[in-house]
Amino acid sequence: MNFWGIYSFFYDNLNKLIPYQKMLEEVIDELALKEGENFLDAGCGTGNLLQKITLHNLQITGIDANKQMLNLAQKKIVHQKINFLTRDFNKTLHLTELYDKISLVNVLYILENPSSFLKEVHGYLKPGGRLVLTTPTYDSSILKIFIAHAKLSKHFFKNLMLFLNLAVVGILNLIILLLAKSGKYHFFNETELQALLQESGFQKTNIEKTYGNQAFLAVANK
Ligand SMILES: C[S@@+](CC[C@H](N)C(=O)[O-])C[C@H]1O[C@@H](n2cnc3c(N)ncnc32)[C@H](O)[C@@H]1O
Repeated sequence: MNFWGIYSFFYDNLNKLIPYQKMLEEVIDELALKEGENFLDAGCGTGNLLQKITLHNLQITGIDANKQMLNLAQKKIVHQKINFLTRDFNKTLHLTELYDKISLVNVLYILENPSSFLKEVHGYLKPGGRLVLTTPTYDSSILKIFIAHAKLSKHFFKNLMLFLNLAVVGILNLIILLLAKSGKYHFFNETELQALLQESGFQKTNIEKTYGNQAFLAVANK
């Protein structure tokens, strides 16, 4: 079992964090999905974003490299018909369709070559299509996200239990931050992210902060 397979056992503890929930809701707002659209959640993980989509009459695809993550997503989402696919984003995607909207939530920083992946994503968008992505900032930390959560939720004992539950997620994130120093993971500042999206062919990009200020939220149109 690889790193993300292990992470899948603990991943949904994030669902209890208000900043994580707010980030997913902001992504859905920015996607502005409409009936009949073809939508792709790239790196869908355990399906937390897909679970929040209440609009029907959409064609929805969820892709991830990790089978354990995809299994959890498949079990979780019963109210929508979703086409789940296994793909490694470090290789060619080999998709057969174009999409109106694509989301990429906290995945870009993991990839070997974020620039070539964004170019590929651009190619899979229909003209006028939209990419909504989030990616952690340089100095992001699960502790800061937890503090942002605790400021919004005043339940002391619940928060204490949540803090303990998040310990493993914290350790896994620490491993990511340590490996980032060796170049395995990529954290961008706002200027770098803006440049990356422009180089990949996106026209107009708006970047804000989300996830308790620990991630960028970029909305890029083709
Ligand atoms: C931080 S999680 C984000 C999951 C989901 N988007 C969310 O926000 O809840 C990163 C996801 O990227 C997936 N992933 C990691 N490396 C990948 C790769 N090379 N190709 C495709 N997916 C990958 C992991 O399996 C995991 O589900």
